[in-house]
Amino acid sequence: MSITIKTPEEIGKMRVAGRLGAEVLDYITPYVQPGVTTGELDRLCHDYMVNVQHTIPAPLNYAPPGYPPYPKSICTSVNHQICHGVPGDKALKKGDIVNLDITVIKDGYHGDTSRMFIVGGEGSILAKRLCQVTLECLWLGISVVRPGARLGDIGHIIQKHAESNGFSVVREFCGHGIGLKFHEEPQVLHYGKAGTGVELRPGMTFTIEPMINAGKAAISELPDGWTIVTKDRSLSAQWEHMVLVTDTGVEVLTLSAGCPPPPALVAPLFPALA
Ligand code: MF3
Ligand code: CO
Ligand code: CO
Repeated sequence: MSITIKTPEEIGKMRVAGRLGAEVLDYITPYVQPGVTTGELDRLCHDYMVNVQHTIPAPLNYAPPGYPPYPKSICTSVNHQICHGVPGDKALKKGDIVNLDITVIKDGYHGDTSRMFIVGGEGSILAKRLCQVTLECLWLGISVVRPGARLGDIGHIIQKHAESNGFSVVREFCGHGIGLKFHEEPQVLHYGKAGTGVELRPGMTFTIEPMINAGKAAISELPDGWTIVTKDRSLSAQWEHMVLVTDTGVEVLTLSAGCPPPPALVAPLFPALA
């Protein structure tokens, strides 16, 4: 398989799927409070997707080669969990950081987006800085997307920002092409060398979803076959948007009313989103 270029009709469907994914995050935001369990967040999101949006939760029973079927409808990755955290009966506590990663399917097309939440609104200085720097990494990556740019440009700018802040970039998981399939080509690495890799063309759709660790980059996998954690148990953060390469630049497909605006360091590049 190769990288698919979406037609205008497909792009319309990706816009809808992307917005719906983001709206699940808007919906769940007020429920992310001390005492709620990740299993409750999963059930609320599942019911909203299925009964209100009439979307399909893409994670449920998703089973790529070498993985057991994913048992839940969203991913909830808490503190030192990097990604693919499986919702369960553990309650969130004040100061925890949690990533909620939502992927919906609407009309066959996938909408994939994730955000960080600081439970109870008050986290440690390190937790707040890690979440903010990771959001900046995502938007710096988005800011270099345009026809003629290369995938290595995205990885390079993310790696530079993470490491200059004393953090590290997870290597084993990456962004991905997306459309009729959840994970398509290309792989979008969050580290690399500018000017290298696949050249971007109008009509490509892919995610950028940097996973940034406060400590070392090394990972471990939990026995559930899904949850990925930092080997040194340091905190980890992730933000994800789905983007379209347009004729002149980039369109972010996973925006919604409640979505945090671009951070100050890139805001001038996205005047329409201020
Ligand atoms: N949403 C994740 C991503 O951004 C993938 C989750 S796969 C699952 O690519 F099965 F764990 F849900
Ligand atoms: Co993704
Ligand atoms: Co995702």
